[in-house]
This record gives sequence, C-alpha cells and structure tokens, in this order.
Amino acid sequence: MTALEVYAWATGGAEKDAVDALAGEFARTVPGRQVVNPVLAGGPDPEGDLRSRLRAGDPPDSFQVHPGAEAQNLVASGALVALDECFARWGLDDVLPAGLRDGLAVGGAVHAVPAGLHRLLLWSNDGVLARAGLTARPADVDDLVRQLEVLRASGVRYPLALGPDWTQLELLEAVLLARLGPDRFAALWTAGADWSGDDVADALAAYGRLLPYANPDRDGLSFPDAAARVRTGAAGYLFTGDWVRALWAGDRSWSWSGRPFPGTAGTFQWLGDAFVLPENAPDVDGALAWLATVAGAPGQQAFNTRKGSIPVRADADRADHSPYLRAAMADLEHLQLVPSCTHGSAAGRAVTSAALTAVGAFSSTGDVGDLRSALAATTDEPRRERV
Ligand code: GAL
Repeated sequence: MTALEVYAWATGGAEKDAVDALAGEFARTVPGRQVVNPVLAGGPDPEGDLRSRLRAGDPPDSFQVHPGAEAQNLVASGALVALDECFARWGLDDVLPAGLRDGLAVGGAVHAVPAGLHRLLLWSNDGVLARAGLTARPADVDDLVRQLEVLRASGVRYPLALGPDWTQLELLEAVLLARLGPDRFAALWTAGADWSGDDVADALAAYGRLLPYANPDRDGLSFPDAAARVRTGAAGYLFTGDWVRALWAGDRSWSWSGRPFPGTAGTFQWLGDAFVLPENAPDVDGALAWLATVAGAPGQQAFNTRKGSIPVRADADRADHSPYLRAAMADLEHLQLVPSCTHGSAAGRAVTSAALTAVGAFSSTGDVGDLRSALAATTDEPRRERV
C-alpha cells in the first residue's frame, strides 16, 4: 500500500468523518494507495510544518485550503499547479455554478478543487423571538437593532450571541454586505480598497450599534459555547456559518431557523473546503486521482453528507441531503455569490489576519474611527505574504 500524503485540517467530529469518508472513497476507487494525514500525527504546529515544507520545496501530495483569494500567495509564489485542464477533463466545468467557478479562480486560473461549501446566515431561536412578540424577521440592520432592543426588554439581556474574533468578523462582514451591496463589499478586501466613504462609515457605525446587544464575554468564549447561548434561549440571534447546524441537529426540544442577514436577500455568502496539487508533489498521479475523487459525485456525496456542507455539483442527488441543504443547493444555482474575508474566499491570509485583529480591538474599545483606520490599513497596499 502506497501512502498519499494529504494535509487536512479537521482532527475530530463531523469534519474528520467527512475527510475520512473521502479518503475511503479514494481507497475504493484507486486500489494500492491510501491517504495519510500528517495533521493527525499531532505535531504542535502542522500548518507551520506545511509552510516550511513548501518553502523548502518538499511538498506533500496534496493539502486542504480555503478556495478563493486565500490561496493567492501560494499561487503567486508558484507553489500550486493550475487545474483548469483537469476541471474540464473531470467534467467539473459543466456542473459548477458559473459564479462559483469565478470565485474559485485566482489570477484567472483554478488551483483548488472544492470538496464542499458553507453558507453564512443569521440563525435565530424562534421560541425566544415568539415570546418577545417578534413574528417577522428583521427587514434591515436598523430593524435588527430594534428587535434586539425588544428582546432585551423581554428579559433576554444579551440577545445577540457572539464568540471569538472570527465570529465578530463574520458579523461585521454581514453588516458591510447589507449596507454596501455585493460588489462594493467584495472590493473592500482587495489591494487599494477605498474605506473612506460615508457609506462605509455608516456601516461600521451600524456594526457598533449591534455590539452592545452581544454578550460581553465574547472574546473568551468558544464558538460552541456562543452557539449554545442560542440553543438555551440566553440569546435570540447568532450570525455564522451553517456548520452550526451540526451542533444543534440532534436536539428537537427547540426550534431554530437560518436566514440571510437582513438587507442581503438575493446573495449567498460562501466559503469552502478544497484540496490542491502542490508544484513538485511526489506522487502526481496519486494526487490527481485524489483530486478527481474530491471532484467526483461519490466523493462529494461522501464528504458533504457527513460534514453537513453543500455539494458544489449541480448534478448532486438532492435526495441525499437535508431539506436545509436542498434549499441551499437550489440557492447556489441562482443567487449572487459573495465571498467571505473571515474564511478566505474574499481575501488573502494577511488581510484576514489584520481584519481579525481590527475587530478584536474594536470588541474592547468600541472606537469606530480606529476600526475604520485599522480596516483600511489591511488593504492599503498589496500585502506581501510568505508562503
Ligand atoms: C471554516 C472551515 C469550515 C468550518 C468553519 C468553522 O474555516 O472552512 O469547514 O470548519 O471554519 O470551524
């Protein structure tokens, strides 16, 4: 049995089950080779190890990335092989939504094979909302602020659940998208972006008006604990990715729903999990067979049914998936796709990490002017990133 070395970041739960199922599908269709994931060996810094190996010209056969702009430094440094011909050969071009293929491309070429997608939504505890007399969902950000005030008056002290910096950046992105629209929003994360407009100031101020309704212990709270605030009714709303469903799915004692953030109807804010072919991969044939498995219908079925993510193929069998995912698959076909800075589809790693620092600082200072300068600095010049 020959080992195919694939760095995949999930080490537990549904995420690991999904990667294992994909590896099982690979073993079934490509006899003689077996996926080995060095991340599971438990070293202290597997991501650092991967970067060192890439810099030293000693890549593994494949590794997991966020598809979209996050891979731009890897592409610019020549670390990844372009896969446009493979996409055509595997028939992926025929089944990917057109907007998604554009979103995957970096420098005009595709380098990452998406295993599945996630969508960012506003989740609510419907019982908590109903008890406060809120039957309609908020129409826009101001209406959301008004509803948070109503929830607070009903006894829910911190009605907006918030966790660590990455959940804060997700929420800030939602407000920016709602106020600026998809095109202006996406442009914010590119080099030389203009953060100086009144509309941007207005959006940042609106984000500032939401935070007093969020739990003050957010910076030290884990994501599952933040999500639990909604499940237990300690909060009414949470904005995050649809992976939160995995935390709630087994519990039928309460009712919840996920909807586009107010003011973003018609858009689908996406992020994904994908695998790449490094330049100089030791086992190119094996790696290409792995990527073909990731792209193929059985691989997509194996991965997404376990992870609870959205298959990227328009021909995926909807009967395999939950009603939520069936609706998401339909939306993926016709809504406007918008990338996310928090999860790498909109921006490179340096921009995302600077934006996380900016929202983390704002969480304690509440200074909107500082938030705007710090965000503007994230994109004031092309960020040179090391692989
Ligand atoms: C993303 C990742 C998703 C999910 C999420 C929450 O970055 O791509 O698959 O794991 O984080 O942890």
